[in-house]
Amino acid sequence: MDKKTFYISTPIYYPSDRLHIGHAYCTTIADAVARYKRLAGFDVFFLTGSDEHGQKIQRKAQQNNITPLEYVDHIVASFKKLWTKLNISHDDFIRTTDQRHHEVVQAIFQKIYDQGDIYKASYEGWYCTPCETFWTERQLVDGKCPDCGRPVELLGEESYFFRMSKYQDRLLTFIEDNPDFIQPVSRRNEMINFIKSGLEDLCVSRTTFDWGIPVPFDTKHVVYVWFDALTNYITAAGYLHDKEKFAKYWPADIHLVGKEIVRFHSIIWPIILMALGVELPKKVYGHGWLVVEGDKMSKSKGNVIDPLELIDEFGADSIRYFLLREITLGMDGNFSREALINRINADLANDLGNLLHRTLNMINRFNGGLIETPGAVEEVDTALIDLAQRTAADYEILMENMDINGAIKEVWALISRTNKYIDETGPWALAKDPAKKERLQTVLYNLAETLRIVAILISPFMPFTSPKIWQQLGIRSDFGKVTLQDGQSWGGLPAGTKVAKPEPIFPRIEDKGEPAAAAEDKTEKSVPAVPEITIDEFAKMDLRVAKVLAAEKVKNADKLLLLTVDLGTEQRSIVSGIAKHYAPEELVGQHVVMIVNLKPAKIRGIESRGMVLAASSDDKLTLVTAKDMLPGSKVK
Ligand code: MSP
Repeated sequence: MDKKTFYISTPIYYPSDRLHIGHAYCTTIADAVARYKRLAGFDVFFLTGSDEHGQKIQRKAQQNNITPLEYVDHIVASFKKLWTKLNISHDDFIRTTDQRHHEVVQAIFQKIYDQGDIYKASYEGWYCTPCETFWTERQLVDGKCPDCGRPVELLGEESYFFRMSKYQDRLLTFIEDNPDFIQPVSRRNEMINFIKSGLEDLCVSRTTFDWGIPVPFDTKHVVYVWFDALTNYITAAGYLHDKEKFAKYWPADIHLVGKEIVRFHSIIWPIILMALGVELPKKVYGHGWLVVEGDKMSKSKGNVIDPLELIDEFGADSIRYFLLREITLGMDGNFSREALINRINADLANDLGNLLHRTLNMINRFNGGLIETPGAVEEVDTALIDLAQRTAADYEILMENMDINGAIKEVWALISRTNKYIDETGPWALAKDPAKKERLQTVLYNLAETLRIVAILISPFMPFTSPKIWQQLGIRSDFGKVTLQDGQSWGGLPAGTKVAKPEPIFPRIEDKGEPAAAAEDKTEKSVPAVPEITIDEFAKMDLRVAKVLAAEKVKNADKLLLLTVDLGTEQRSIVSGIAKHYAPEELVGQHVVMIVNLKPAKIRGIESRGMVLAASSDDKLTLVTAKDMLPGSKVK
C-alpha cells in the first residue's frame, strides 16, 4: 500500500534582505512538523522558497547598481546557507524566478482571463511597496499603510482585475463548513469578518515597473507579486507539469504562515484555486510574531537578530529548541539572549545533558559499559515505564494537534522524572553490594531505555542531537530509519549494547555578552562578604508566593506603594519602596515573592506585614516573581 502523504509549506521569503530570527522561527516550526510526520510514517513534501519579484526588490537592486536577478541570487544563497546550518529538511526550494513557475503563472493567468474572471479596467489606489499591497482611501490609517504604518503612494494605471467579489459567498460557505481551515480560531473569526465586510476585485497586474512575470497576452503588464507568489504552492507540487506528483501531494495539508499574511492565504489564494477549479488546501495556520524585548524587529531600531550568528555561538539545536519551547504556537513570543541562555542551561545542559552523562558514566563505571538484560520490576520502575509510554502516546496526540510546545513539555517532564529515578534508586549504592547486581542491571537498563525513547521523541526538534545520543548509547541500528513506533514501545534497546564514553552534548553557557573576568570583578565589589548562615537559619525565613491584588501610591511619599496581596489563605497589606520602579497598574496580577514572617512595621502610619523581594543594583530594581506558581507556594 502507498504511504500516506503530507504536504507542508512555509511562506516564500522576500530576498530583499537577509533573513532574521523571526523567519527562522517560522521555518523551524515547519521543519519540526515535517520531521515528526516522516517519523510517523508519512511520505512528506516540505516546501520553502523565495518570492523574488516586485517593486521592492527592483528598487533594492537599483540602489545597489546591479540587476534584480544578481541581487536576489546573492540573497537567496544566504537563505540556503541558513537552512543548511539550521538543519532544515525541505524537499524542494522554489524560486519564483524558476522557469517552471514562470510557465505556471502565465498559464493560470491566461486561463482565468479566458474564462472572464480577469478583466481590464483603470484604477487608482494607494500602494504600500514594503507590503506590496494596494489600499483604498478608506482603509488607510492616518494616511499610512494600515499593516506596517509606512507611507503609501498614489498610483493610477490601467490594470487587470481579478473578480474576487464573484467568489465571496462560496468562500464564506467553505470557511464556515470547514472549521479547521483557518487556525487558530481567532484568525478564523478575523477572516470571516473581513469577508463579510465585502470583497473588492483585486488589481493583479502592474505597468510601472517590469521586474515580474509578464501577463502573457499583454506584456506591458507584469503579474501582481502576490498572485505570482501564492501560485508557488501548486507549481512546486507539479501543477500542469507533473500530474502524478500533483495528484499525490495536492491539496496541501498545511500552509504555515505568519499572522499578518493569513489574509492572503485564506482569501486571495482560495479564490484563485476556486477560479481554477483546483481543490483548496486543508489548513492555513497563522503563527504569531517573534519580538525582541517586546518590540518588533526592524533595521531602524537596530534590534534585528541574525540567526547565523546565534547558530555559530550556541549551536543550531539550542536555537531550534528555544524557538519551539519558549513560544506557544499561534501567540507572539519574546526573544532575549538571557532567556535563550537560561533555557540552554536549565533544560539542555542540566536536565537532558546531565541525564545522559550520569547514565553513561554509571554504566561505564559500574558495569564495564554494558547494558544488560533487566531483572524483576519494582514499583518505582513501573512508574517510570508507564510514564515513558504515556509520554510517547500523548506526544503523538499533541503533535497531531500542532501543540509542539506541549509535546516538548511532556518529554521534559519525563526527563525530570528520570533524573529523579536515579536519586530514588541510588545505583551507586547498589553497585557496592554484589547481592544487588540484578537490581543494578534493571535500573541501568531503564535509564538507557528511557534515553533511547527521548532521543526519538526529540528528533523533530533537535535533529543534530538525537543521533549523538543514539551513538553514545551505543545503539547500532541506523537512526535515520527510526520510527515513531520505535519510540512508543518500551524495551527496544537490545541487551548487550555497549555504550560509548559520555561526551557533553550541551555544555553550560556562561554569558559572554559581558566578559567573564569583568563580571567577576563587579560581583566582588558590589557584594560585600556577609557572614555565613546555616540552612536552619535560612529556613527561619518564611518565603511565599503572593499575588498582587491592588497597588496604590502612598500619599506624600514618592518612593512608596501600598500593596494588597493574596497569600492563598489570607490577604495582607504591605508598604514597599518600589514606586520609582513600578507603576501601580503594572503590579496588579503579578506573582511576587515575599517574606511573610517579618516583624510587622508601621510605615507612614500604615502597618506593613511582610516585604516583597527585589533584585537591585545601582538605580535598577526588579521584583522577584514566580509567574506560574499559586499564591501561598513556599519558596526555598
Ligand atoms: N513573500 C511574502 C510571503 C509570500 S507567501 C506566498 C512575505 N515574505 S516575508 O519575507 O516578508 O515574510 C515571510 C514570513 O516571515 C511571514 O510569514 C512573516 O510572518 C514571517 N515573519 C517575518 N518577521 C517575523 C517575526 N518577527 N516573527 C515571526 N515571523 C515573522 O511576506
